[in-house]
Amino acid sequence: MNILVINGSPKGEKSNTYQLTSAFLKGIKEEAGDVHIRECAVCRMDIKPCLGCFSCWDRTPGKCCIEDDMAQVIQDLLWADITIWSFPLYYFTVPGALKNLIDRQLPMNLPFMEEQEGQVGNGGHPSRYDMSGKRTVVISTCGFYTAEGNYDGVCSLFDHHCGPGNYTTIFCGQGELFRVPELSAVTNDYLSCVEQAGAEYIEGGISEKSRERLSQLLLPRDTFEACADASWGIAKDDTGTGENGDAKKESDTLKFTRQMAALYRKTSWPGKDIVLEMCYTDVEECYQILLGKDGSHVYTDGSLTADTRIETPITVWRSIAAGEIRGDFGLMQGLYRVKGDFNLMLQWDDYFGGSHPKAEQTEEKTVWKNTDMNIMLIPWIVFWVAAAISKQPGCLISVAVCAMIPLVYYRHKKQCTMCSAARW
Ligand SMILES: Cc1cc2nc3c(=O)[nH]c(=O)nc-3n(C[C@H](O)[C@H](O)[C@H](O)COP(=O)(O)O)c2cc1C
Repeated sequence: MNILVINGSPKGEKSNTYQLTSAFLKGIKEEAGDVHIRECAVCRMDIKPCLGCFSCWDRTPGKCCIEDDMAQVIQDLLWADITIWSFPLYYFTVPGALKNLIDRQLPMNLPFMEEQEGQVGNGGHPSRYDMSGKRTVVISTCGFYTAEGNYDGVCSLFDHHCGPGNYTTIFCGQGELFRVPELSAVTNDYLSCVEQAGAEYIEGGISEKSRERLSQLLLPRDTFEACADASWGIAKDDTGTGENGDAKKESDTLKFTRQMAALYRKTSWPGKDIVLEMCYTDVEECYQILLGKDGSHVYTDGSLTADTRIETPITVWRSIAAGEIRGDFGLMQGLYRVKGDFNLMLQWDDYFGGSHPKAEQTEEKTVWKNTDMNIMLIPWIVFWVAAAISKQPGCLISVAVCAMIPLVYYRHKKQCTMCSAARW
């Protein structure tokens, strides 16, 4: 089976959408085995705009007068059993360079006017080649919180091109999240759904269950939009332009803190406001996040009294957020320090679990809430209580509890592998 991938993102392999396309291909390969794949990265190809001269219909039938890479693309389209169009949504349609490629398919048609079965609109041209049995997949990400309602232009184009219902789509909102390592737990989960969809597609069609999973939002709308707005490092009432025309930006550390604050779940508000102070020791920056009833707010002037203060190099905290270091191990190894109320740390996932929306909907939530920090604290609690009652038996009981911790930890770890998310 021959598969052609037309990657229409100007970012080439670094494209968000391409991550989905690669996952889809992985699913196909695992299921179908013997597949041959060719890729056209439009951004690296020389494909000029159509001149509109119709010479491919009269002077040199089937051949364009422009000598560039499009001749090879047409060969590849004829070679492929399945063509996957992979691109970002630009102004509610395809990026310009990809539109050039689409226009330049004109030599593949005959000039005659012909009504085709199931055709949309009024008018069509027959194909110059036998294209029966060929299949089309359209994969795209967009920047808004949902794909819903944003792909009418794209669907209209492919309805005319392939016929309605004659192509398969995967459209995903919040596309920029695919490049945020701190959210890889959420995006990897989505990518595994796309992989599953690829396997099902090649076996006959994407199942309803997978369709349902693919239509889920990566993050809740308000969380995503707050994160997206914070990612620019510009206050909402500002244009981001300094006096001399240069970009006027907040530091990366403040941007990171604002994004972290955006993940706060106000439904976890414990009945009183909490002030979390983040002190980044390597860059000497300190910010306070007020976790309130109606959401979070970042203070840069240190005007609040902190309930919990975390002293950490920004590099360490970023690694923890990205799931490269476990939060509890980092603390044990002294990579960062916590001062003040420790409760916030114990319930971190409740407060900042916005990056793991699925945990709210499934039984995974109970697993999610049991942080390893609780396990670490058990021997100490037993020691304080038991030794206070009676020294010798108390110490013996504490040693026995310590000995049991690896067992408890092992059980806990086994349960937690069910949640793929990076966590505290
Ligand atoms: C010029 C331009 C136009 C865009 N237009 C839209 C749009 O109309 N709707 C939308 O939701 N996102 C829009 N976006 C966001 C992209 O679709 C989004 O960032 C996408 O994930 C990029 O995918 P890629 O990395 O595969 O190129 C636009 C981005 C750019 C640069």
